[in-house]
Formats: sequence, structure tokens, C-alpha cells
Amino acid sequence: MNTKRISKSLLFFIIIMCSYFKISAQMKFDTTAKIQALVKQLTTEEKVKMVHASSSFTSGGVARLGIPEIVTSDGPHGVRPEFGRDWNLDNNSLDSGTYLPTGNCLAATWNPQLGYAFGAVLGSEARFRGKNIILGPGINIIRSPLNGRNFEYQSEDPFLVSKMVVGYIKGVQDQGVSACVKHYAANNQESKRFTINVQMSERALREIYLPGFKAAVEVAKVNTVMGSYNKFRGQWASQNNYLLNQILKKEWNFKGFVMSDWDAVHNTEEAYWNGLDLEMGTDLRMLPNPDYNKFYYGDKLLALIKAGKLSEYILDDKVSRILYVMFKTGMIDGKLKTGDYNTKAHQQTAATIAEEGIVLLKNENNILPLNRNNIKTIAVIGFNAARKQSMGGGSSQVRAFYEITPLDGIKNIAGNNIKVEYAQGYEIQRGGGANQQMIDEAVALAKRSDIVVYVGGSTHGYRYDLWNDNAYDAEAVDKPNMDMPFGQDELLDQLLKANPKTVVALMGGGAIDMTKWISKTPAILQNWYAGMEGGNALARILFGTVNPSGKLPMTFPKKLEDNPSYALGEYPGDTAKSLIVNYHDDIYVGYRYYDTYKVTPQFAFGHGLSYTNFEYSNLKLAAVGQNVTATFMVKNTGKVAGAEIAQLYVHEQNAVLPRPEKELKGFDKIKLAPGEQKTISIKLDENAFKYFDDLKNEWVMDKAAFDILLGGASDDIKLRSTIKL
Ligand code: GLC
Repeated sequence: MNTKRISKSLLFFIIIMCSYFKISAQMKFDTTAKIQALVKQLTTEEKVKMVHASSSFTSGGVARLGIPEIVTSDGPHGVRPEFGRDWNLDNNSLDSGTYLPTGNCLAATWNPQLGYAFGAVLGSEARFRGKNIILGPGINIIRSPLNGRNFEYQSEDPFLVSKMVVGYIKGVQDQGVSACVKHYAANNQESKRFTINVQMSERALREIYLPGFKAAVEVAKVNTVMGSYNKFRGQWASQNNYLLNQILKKEWNFKGFVMSDWDAVHNTEEAYWNGLDLEMGTDLRMLPNPDYNKFYYGDKLLALIKAGKLSEYILDDKVSRILYVMFKTGMIDGKLKTGDYNTKAHQQTAATIAEEGIVLLKNENNILPLNRNNIKTIAVIGFNAARKQSMGGGSSQVRAFYEITPLDGIKNIAGNNIKVEYAQGYEIQRGGGANQQMIDEAVALAKRSDIVVYVGGSTHGYRYDLWNDNAYDAEAVDKPNMDMPFGQDELLDQLLKANPKTVVALMGGGAIDMTKWISKTPAILQNWYAGMEGGNALARILFGTVNPSGKLPMTFPKKLEDNPSYALGEYPGDTAKSLIVNYHDDIYVGYRYYDTYKVTPQFAFGHGLSYTNFEYSNLKLAAVGQNVTATFMVKNTGKVAGAEIAQLYVHEQNAVLPRPEKELKGFDKIKLAPGEQKTISIKLDENAFKYFDDLKNEWVMDKAAFDILLGGASDDIKLRSTIKL
């Protein structure tokens, strides 16, 4: 009887699965057949129209055949305000939306599920605003702390990027909107970004600069990729045969389409042969009267094809890829989703990401969390405490529906029985010295307050700032150094003298030089640009309503000279003459350098404190072939609930080619109640042990002993064990 029932249900299951695969295969076949049928009906003129922009943020459609224009919009952490054809902000449209925390705040959560939630909000709001492609995520590796766009990106570590990028892209694309992973590739500085020529070893490319993009394509199935401005090994990245045809389309079997960065195309033939599918932004050089037929993929392309100088089948491939994305997002034959806008749920997601992304760097004598019973007055000092940041940074700007500043957040949580007073302390004027009157006011306030919360750090330049050089964390400009700008060191020094109980919260896209005051302040938080709910998130962490769990996704060096792109590499390269930037730092990016070259950073990659403590124990390794499972226990030994990000690093003993001291190959975010203990497993496949041998030009795995290192930060290894493979 039993066997009969099992075989019946097994048979039923097999029938279901077969019909599922048959249907999905049929659907794929149908789409391919529909695409081919459309391509056959399109004239050459119509195909040419589809492969270049039709306005600042749209590409050409063919109404005759029901092929719509594609509507794109920035940016990686919110849907950008509307632009007219003439590139001026349309200040009359209802385009205030959800302003999420920026890329490196998301990465600092080390929580891939939040990556998905982030993408889902972004995709839903993009759909609501009628967009088909959101131009994000930006995932260029954070190589130098000076890069103006670090705030938009995620990490110095390719494994962390490849884990966080997948959720983001799936979140966006499940809303019926295409993500556009950018900027492919090696766009790691803003200095001379339009013209530099990046040179690096194949090993650095494969081990450091490509993995995030590879995961976006192979795991997240991203629909579109944006080529970057710079040259890569002498050829423009947006028309680069190696990057686009060889790696992206052939090796990774990318099915979607490649668009250029805006105004990143330099000639017709090279772009055409080398894999560029859609030319965007060339109108920028034609303002104020752009002629979209004058694009490289406009009349010129049409003429070359008509003259038989370029084969039309290449154009058919480009158009087919664009149609593939249209079918995949329901733009043709499908039901376009409607999306949501400015919902409480979206705002809650922004808050959660900020709460999990803000990093507690230092907390001496447990000055944090603040105990509201013994505080009557709080001084909130610093321009960043009251400054709205959402419209800053360049193309990633967002007109936030609202933005809770740190000052707002602290006032919200303080309630009536704590007096909160504010002093600006400094003004944003690059090259301007400290304003003594402002300092005096701030010092006086600090003196008479129980606690000081100083909110400083870097700042977003607003777009117009780029040209009056107030800009710091912004597109198109790098920071001049790691100094905390606008005379803040001086101000902070005086505040700390006036009131040693001064907690420092830094806003910005990454490391700044803290050496002048770090020993005197009892607590430091890295606040990134934590989005519209950032002020509430910071306040909840300050008062302990939220237990911080964020960890640094990039190393904070003590000073610029310690950074590998400075010490080993070239940054920003020979921007005066050859425009070549040699990545001599190679694979030694971030902690791969500091640990290997024994340079102690200010705060290490993966560092972040909690209001509780975690104990690691019982590390066991089990190998099946080249797959290893690391099992261990983590216990919350403190009095409050918290979340620990357990990080697993691999070290190869006596590697054939030099390897970094350690490489992140696994992590898990574990939420634990006080006293609670959990057993965690992290699975490692052969990729966790391989490195790219650019002499053999392939990934290799030595027969070697590998140390498995486990801990709460790259410089805080709690357990280690060795396995021979
Ligand atoms: C910009 C940026 C890119 C953005 C595009 C459209 O120059 O490099 O990230 O998506 O142009 O604004």
C-alpha cells in the first residue's frame, strides 16, 4: 500500500515538474520567437532609433510596433527628481520620494535580506514614477578614501559586495524594474574620470574589481549594465571589447544590454563592434539644443550600415537585447506593475537599514547608551547635525519626502524632560578657516550641557557646489585629503576641553583623519549618509533603543599615507600628462593590504561595537571533497539583545603565488537575546580557496593547508582552525 502511494505521489510530482519546465521553456521560446519576429519587422532606421537616447533619460521606442521608449532614472538610493530635456531640474513635479541610506550604509549592515528590502523599495518607487530602469547599484570597489563617490558604493571587499549586490538587484527587478549595475569597470576615482586610463593585473581585475559585477550578472541576473567613463587598458570602458564582449557577454553569458555612462561614447565603429548596446547622454555635449540624431549611434551609424561598412546583424543583437529586457520587465506583452510611493513601509525600511548600518566605532566607559535619567541638557553641535543631505552628491541626489536630521532625531527621542540645544559650530566653506564666533558659541553651550553630541565629518556637495568646490562626498570630484574639513578639528578640540563627555557622530562616505582628537573623545559613531530616517536611527542608538550592529565595509586608515592606493598604487595617477593610473596596489586593497603589510589602521574592516558582548566557541571544520563546512557557536553574554556579524576569513599557508594575509569568504548576521547561544554553519565551496593565477590565466587551488579564521572583525579573530585540501 505504502509503496504504491509513494510511487503515485512521486509520479504526480514528476508530471508537475515536467509541465513547469515545459511551460517555462515554452515561454522562453515564445519570447525569443517574439523578439525575432519584431526584429524582422523593424526597419534599419527604427533599430538605430532604439540604440540611442531620445531625451536626457529615455531611449527610442517604435510606436508602430508597440515598442515603448525606455524610461531610466538615477539613482542608487532613491528615485531622482525629474529632469527636463534640457537637463534642468523640473521643480514643479511631485517627485519627492523615499531617500534611502546610501550604498556604504547598506553595506555596513552586512545583511543581504536588507539588500533585498532596499531594492524592493527603490524598484517600487521607480515603478510608481513610471521608470523602467533605475540606474543603480553603484558597486565600484572602495580603493581610496578620497574617491568622491565612495558614499554611493559599498565596500573594499569583493565578497561583501557580491553578497550585498544580489539582494538589491533582485529586490529592484521583482518590482518589474530593471536594475543597472555600475560603473563597469574600474571607476574608482572621480579625478579626471572622463579621461583616465586604468591599468591593472588580470589577477587584480578577477579577484577584486570584477566579482561584484559577476555576481550581479550570474546570480542576480541583472538586466542592464552601465559602462564607465574611464579607459581600461587603453580602450574606453563603454566600448571595451574585453570587458563587454569577452567577459560580460561571452564568459558570463549576460543576456541583457549594456548602456554607456552619460556621454561616455567616443566613436561609432568601436562602440558598435565592442559590445555597447545603448548610447546615452551624448546630448550633454550638445546642450542647450540637443539633436538626438547626432549621436554616434544616430545618423552616422545608419549611414555606415546602409553603406555596408557595418553589418546589420550586430545591430539586431543590440536591439534583441533591449527587447529581451522589455519583455522581462513586462514593458511589452506584460502587465507593468504600479508601484508604491512614500509609504510608511518604505520609510520603515529606510529606518531599519540606517539602524543596522550606523557603526559604533568607539565606546569608552560605556558612555553610550546615554542614560536619560542622569541627563538634563544635551548640546547638539555641528553643521551636519541640522543639514539636509538628500539633494547632495551629484546624480544620486533625491528630493526626500522628508529628512530627519540628527538634531531632529535627538529632539524626537529626548521628549520634554531633556533640554536639547543646538550650535552650528562651523560653516561649509572649503579652504575657509574656523569661524571663531561660531566656535565660542558652541564651546559655551558645551560647557553648560551634561552631554555633547557632535555631528560633523565630511559633507555632500550639492550639484552646484562642484564648481565652487565646496563639494566633498560628491560625483565628479575627489576629496583633497583625509582631513576633516571646515576647521572642525580645532572646534572639536575646544569642545572636548570644554566638556570631555563629547560623543562624535561622523557623516560621510568613509574614513577621515581622526588622529588629532580620537584619544580625547569617549565615543565615535560612523553615521554615513543614513537617509531620511537617519536622525531617528542615530538617536535610537545614542539612547540604546536600538543596539548598534553595523560593521565597517571598508578600512579606516589612520592617515592617507597608510592607504595602499597611496603607499603601493597610484592615486589619482598621472592626471596631468599620460592620464594613466597604475593599480600597483593590485590585489592588496583594504584589509588585504593592512594585514599583509602589518599597517595598523584606525579602525579595521569589519569592526563595529555593540552594547552587548558575544562569545565564540566550538569551531569545527568538516570537508567533503573541496567543500568545507565551518560550524561554530556564538553566545550573547551581555544583558541586552543584539546582532553579531560573524566573519570567516581564509588564509593559505605557503601559497604558490603571494596571497593576502586573509580574505573574507563567509559571514552571517546572528540576532541573539541576552544569554542566547546559536550554532552557526558557514559553507565554503572551492571558490573560497582559489586565487587567480595570471601566469596560467585561470583560477587555481593549491594543494595546501588553509587556516579558517573566525571573528567579529578582521582584526578580532576569536577562533581558528586548519584544514588540508
Ligand atoms: C553620471 C553618472 C552615472 C549616472 C549618469 C546619469 O555622470 O556617472 O552614475 O547614472 O551620469 O545621470
